[in-house]
Amino acid sequence: MDGNGRWAKQKGLIRAIGHENGTKSVRETVEAATELGIKNLTLYAFSTENWNRPKLEVDTLMKLLVSSLKKEIKTLQDNNIKLNAIGDLQSLPKKVYKELIEVIGKTETNTQMTLTLALSYGSRAEMVNAIKEISVKVKNNIISAENIDESIINEHLYTQNLPDVDLLIRTSGEQRISNFLLWQIAYAELYFTNSLWPDFTKQHLCDAIIEYQKRERRFGKTSEQIS
Ligand code: FPP
Repeated sequence: MDGNGRWAKQKGLIRAIGHENGTKSVRETVEAATELGIKNLTLYAFSTENWNRPKLEVDTLMKLLVSSLKKEIKTLQDNNIKLNAIGDLQSLPKKVYKELIEVIGKTETNTQMTLTLALSYGSRAEMVNAIKEISVKVKNNIISAENIDESIINEHLYTQNLPDVDLLIRTSGEQRISNFLLWQIAYAELYFTNSLWPDFTKQHLCDAIIEYQKRERRFGKTSEQIS
């Protein structure tokens, strides 16, 4: 969800207002994804690297998260959406962690869509964590090194209950991945739009999906094999 800061700057506003308007796009995108029947939506809301931003901006983002969670619990329930979170959640301020766990608990039986927030998330940190967990299991003879395969690695990632990514959308014209779901996007279709996140609407989501539908996903096979 990139471009909140630039959106604000273009309007002569402070960055916090950009993030605040970004929450409107979050709401619209979540509702649109539910309507479209998407089963999993993951939003990269705060990276491990974002902790290095000025304290005031980090505090603003954390406050926005708490207020959004409080405000949107009803929307999640009304739309039968299950909230999930990935990342180093223990590093979040207590208030954010508590609210997050509460909303995750309240929505855990919802079935229409799983909305995953990536918070204090970094894909490399996720992999390091998985490797450590697997190493301990190998050391304790719970897993044998020869049996380590893709499914064992999947089971030790924060995304263990989620399918691989089909479509990755990045806003604001930047064309990079920025440490997001590196393992899980192995065969994802990538879509980049110049739209800044606060300007991202249901129409932009539909445009991305229409483009996705035109792609031929070959997973290493030939076009003939696919057809
Ligand atoms: C990137 O834009 C955006 C973020 C680091 C924060 C995203 C957070 C929200 C949209 C609001 C809270 C989220 C939820 C799930 C309620 P940037 O600040 O890097 O923009 P810039 O590159 O233009 O400076």
